Amino acid sequence: MHIPVLLKEVIEYLNPEPGEFIIDGTINGGGHAKIILDKISPSGKVFGIDWDESLIKKLKRESWVIGHKSSITLISGNYADLPEILKKEKLGKADGLLLDLGFSSEQIENSNRGFSFDKDEPLYMTYSAESAPVAQVIRELKEGELADIIFKLGGERLSRKIAKAIKEVSKKKRITSSLELAEIIRASTPKNYENQRIDPATRTFQALRIYANHELENLEKVLNRLPDILKPKARVVIISFHSLEDAIIKKHFQKLELAGILKILTKKPIEASMEEIVQNPKSRSAKLRAAILI
Ligand SMILES: C[S@@+](CC[C@H](N)C(=O)[O-])C[C@H]1O[C@@H](n2cnc3c(N)ncnc32)[C@H](O)[C@@H]1O
Repeated sequence: MHIPVLLKEVIEYLNPEPGEFIIDGTINGGGHAKIILDKISPSGKVFGIDWDESLIKKLKRESWVIGHKSSITLISGNYADLPEILKKEKLGKADGLLLDLGFSSEQIENSNRGFSFDKDEPLYMTYSAESAPVAQVIRELKEGELADIIFKLGGERLSRKIAKAIKEVSKKKRITSSLELAEIIRASTPKNYENQRIDPATRTFQALRIYANHELENLEKVLNRLPDILKPKARVVIISFHSLEDAIIKKHFQKLELAGILKILTKKPIEASMEEIVQNPKSRSAKLRAAILI
């Protein structure tokens, strides 16, 4: 089960009030949305979006969703397209937006789409069929392009070596499974790589997932469209797990504050307490930034 990250802090900054309309743009299993729903009930509304259609289908079968049918709407889609989605659903602008970026433990464990380097699964690593699977990405990219992606999005210093190994195998046969890709990466790195602190495939998998799903582009797009999604005085809360994502959020919030569009509520990003990190190690790299629209 996916444990919601920085739950108390999300509620504090999103500040959902009874009767409000709140969007959870990355609803997943509804870890945050469930609490938001409690806060806006009985007259408010939660609009939950996830790019992963299978998660939305699953969520619609949950008893807490069925029990609040008139207060929650669930749609599968890309949060970057929120202005169009709201229009299509005949919904106005919202009082709050939550984005909890990346993927979830549920997707690693149960999606069968190759997010885990420990499982032998088809090499998709994508949230939606709208994005080209990683198996295709690594086939189509040139070695130099692949190395640049692994370096930039994964911070992997052995990116050239890893990209070379992937392309060498890829020339002979199609790489179609996550375990196969992980083994190629592991074989191309030294035995005691990083003192075995992390699996040698960790950073390359992260980079390929971010690239294949256009994660940085989607984030930039939604940040540029906040006034089309949110009312004046609405709150936006974004949790990121990657330094490049956090830098994009920081830069856009500063730009929007200078333009008089919003006021930043978190001078520095909020991080998980030691207590939360012990309970949920995934929260270690989480950074929360929040702002209020003017
Ligand atoms: C970290 S999880 C969210 C967890 C959720 N807050 C909870 O506590 O249950 C991130 C979710 O965002 C979804 N996602 C990633 N990119 C997306 C996008 N561009 N649009 C909509 N959903 C996206 C993923 O499918 C995943 O379910």
